[in-house]
Amino acid sequence: MSGTVYLFDAYGTLLDVHSAVARHKGAIGPQAERLSELWRSKQLEYTWVRSLMGAYQDFECLTQQALDYAASRCGGINAQTRADLLNAYQTLSAYRDAAPCLSALRQAGGRTGILSNGTRHMLQKAIEAAGLSKLFDAVISVDELRLYKTSPLVYEQARSLFDVPAGQVIFVSSNRWDVAGASRFGFQAHWINRAGLADEYADCPPKGVHKTLDGLLNGLRSA
Ligand code: LAC
Repeated sequence: MSGTVYLFDAYGTLLDVHSAVARHKGAIGPQAERLSELWRSKQLEYTWVRSLMGAYQDFECLTQQALDYAASRCGGINAQTRADLLNAYQTLSAYRDAAPCLSALRQAGGRTGILSNGTRHMLQKAIEAAGLSKLFDAVISVDELRLYKTSPLVYEQARSLFDVPAGQVIFVSSNRWDVAGASRFGFQAHWINRAGLADEYADCPPKGVHKTLDGLLNGLRSA
C-alpha cells in the first residue's frame, strides 16, 4: 500500500447523506425517508444536467434547490426545518468505518484524497465536523473546473495533482455511476455497495465491490 494514491468520493461514501434528514425526522413527518431519497437524487440530477448544458452552479446551490423541490413533493417543510436541514448537510455524520479505513491506509504509507462535487467550503466544513480533516493529503473540489463528475476532466484534475498514472490510483465510491466514470477514466475503481444494489454500467466495471470500507481494507490487504 506504500506510495499508493487512494481517492475517495465524499457524499455517500465517507459521509452519510441521509444523516441530515435522520436528525430532523420528527419535524418532517412520515415522508422523511422519501424526502431524503428525492433530495439526493435531484441533487445529482442537477449536477449532470448543468454539466451537459454548460451552465454550472455550485453544489451548495444545487443542494438547496434539490431540497426545495423534494420538500414540495413531500408535503412541504417550514422555514426552520429547511434551515436545520441545510445546516445539517454541512455537518453530515461520517460512516463509522471511514476514519479507521483512512488511518490504516495512511499508516501503511498510502496517500489519501477526496475528489468530490462539493465546494471546497462544504468539504472543509464537513470533514472538520466529522473529525476527518487530518486524514487527507488533498481535498479536491470540482468547483474550480465548474464541471461535475463524471466528466473525465474532473478525474484528470485529481490524477494530475497527485502526479501518478491513472492506473495507479485506487478510487473509492459508493455511487455506481461515479465508479463507472472513474473506471472509464482509467482509475482502479472500487464500489462500496452498502445497500446491496444491483450492478449497472457493465462496460465500466469496478475493480472490486465491497459492502463497507472495512471490506475494502481487507480486500486491498489480501490483493
Ligand atoms: C461527491 C458526490 C457525488 O462527493 O457524492 O462527489
